[in-house]
Amino acid sequence: MATEEIRKKVQELRKEIRHHSYLYYVKDAPEITDYEFDHLYRQLVDLEKEYPELVTPDSPTQRVGGKASDDFGKVRFRKPMLSLANAFSADELRDFDRRVKEGLGVNSVEYITELKIDGLSMNLIYENGSLVQGLTRGDGRVGEDVTANVKTIHTIPLYIENAPPYMEVRGEVYMPRKSFIALNEERDEAGLMPFANCRNAAAGSLRQLDPHVTASRNLAFFAYALGDMQGLEIHSQEELLKQLEAFHFQVNPNYRKWDSIEGVIKGVNEWEVKRHDLGYDTDGMVIKVNDFAQQNQLGATVKDPKWAMAYKYPPEEVETKVERIIVTMGRTGVLTPSADLTPVHLAGTTVKRATLHNMDFIHEKDIRVGDHVMIYKAGEIIPEISTVLKNKRTGKEEIFEMPKTCPICGEPVHRIEGEAAYRCTNPNCGGVVREKLIHFASRDAMDIEGMGPSVVDSLL
Ligand code: IVH
Repeated sequence: MATEEIRKKVQELRKEIRHHSYLYYVKDAPEITDYEFDHLYRQLVDLEKEYPELVTPDSPTQRVGGKASDDFGKVRFRKPMLSLANAFSADELRDFDRRVKEGLGVNSVEYITELKIDGLSMNLIYENGSLVQGLTRGDGRVGEDVTANVKTIHTIPLYIENAPPYMEVRGEVYMPRKSFIALNEERDEAGLMPFANCRNAAAGSLRQLDPHVTASRNLAFFAYALGDMQGLEIHSQEELLKQLEAFHFQVNPNYRKWDSIEGVIKGVNEWEVKRHDLGYDTDGMVIKVNDFAQQNQLGATVKDPKWAMAYKYPPEEVETKVERIIVTMGRTGVLTPSADLTPVHLAGTTVKRATLHNMDFIHEKDIRVGDHVMIYKAGEIIPEISTVLKNKRTGKEEIFEMPKTCPICGEPVHRIEGEAAYRCTNPNCGGVVREKLIHFASRDAMDIEGMGPSVVDSLL
């Protein structure tokens, strides 16, 4: 049986691990090496193995331990998760400001602007500091229990020190752009359908029956609101964001207080361009009345609070034409179709090519050579076709078919049962060898300076 001394040691280790994992994941400023961290973690794992009676669900070792649920249970919220009314112009924001001032009978109001993170809203329930449940928004009244999956997200604390007895923290689960791009590359290689954007990828990763899959997806969380709670006194959105930071949540740092709607409009315009440089997707800004007493006074409709508004940025899409479809070789022999496009300017660069991923993708969107299409940048980097403008078809468009033989070595191309990918069957295919060498020398692998595609070609 565990002695008092061992219990204390376990508590200390947990506290230390929580602290360093907060510095690493939330603050991005680690104070110890990974090696030292692993050592601390290993000590805790060993003690919990020896004394299983000491394991608690909020222990740092329990991030991926939860059983895969058969289905996501439905849970009714104590306080509904509302959505936000949208504004698309400065004048609609001025109308909002007018309604707020009329509703409060005042001449000036303080607002907070926050980035509108393009992810999924999440309600996290903490009892005496321990995370006990994570619920998706569902229909706003009843959410889905995804506790085992949210526990794998490192920026979500499993235990909060000095927390009130009951607290619901709300915010957005999102996938950083870098993780999204890497995930789609992996999916292409494995012959799986890619996710269209960071939000879909985050949603798909959270709605997994196996928490190990969620754990591998590198999701993150920004906190921005409270649901129901007892034992906390907070007077404004600004105070709340600071309190959430003190509880060691990640709070998006780009919030700002304004004393007029004209200031808010300035902030909104500023971020329309700046947002493209962030490491995650945003689809707008959220404008909130800062003072909680004023928020309460304004109240809500059945759907949205009257004290907040979402300003939506128009999606960046342009029209272009599919000139031809070409096939390129990946290092595992996967043949990937890409569209050569009429060059167009999109979000800061000239785009000439978009990946088409695989034949299922082409069939699903019914993309043909000669089609007029709308394109956007997934994760702000990868050009993708969003829609085919079928009303612009002339009848001369051509349906694409995957070549029966490898364009590089001429050996037969084979589609593996149950996979979307076509592969060259020749293990010595010059194309595969070339891609393998390029990958071997690349920054992600051996990082051999100067050994790019042209040197590899000479070598071959
Ligand atoms: S506040 C009652 N703040 O946008 C107000 N929402 O279109 C609750 N969202 O369902 C929302 N970033 O999923 C708020 N900084 C932010 C947000 C944010 C993203 C999402 C949230 C909400 C949706 C409404």
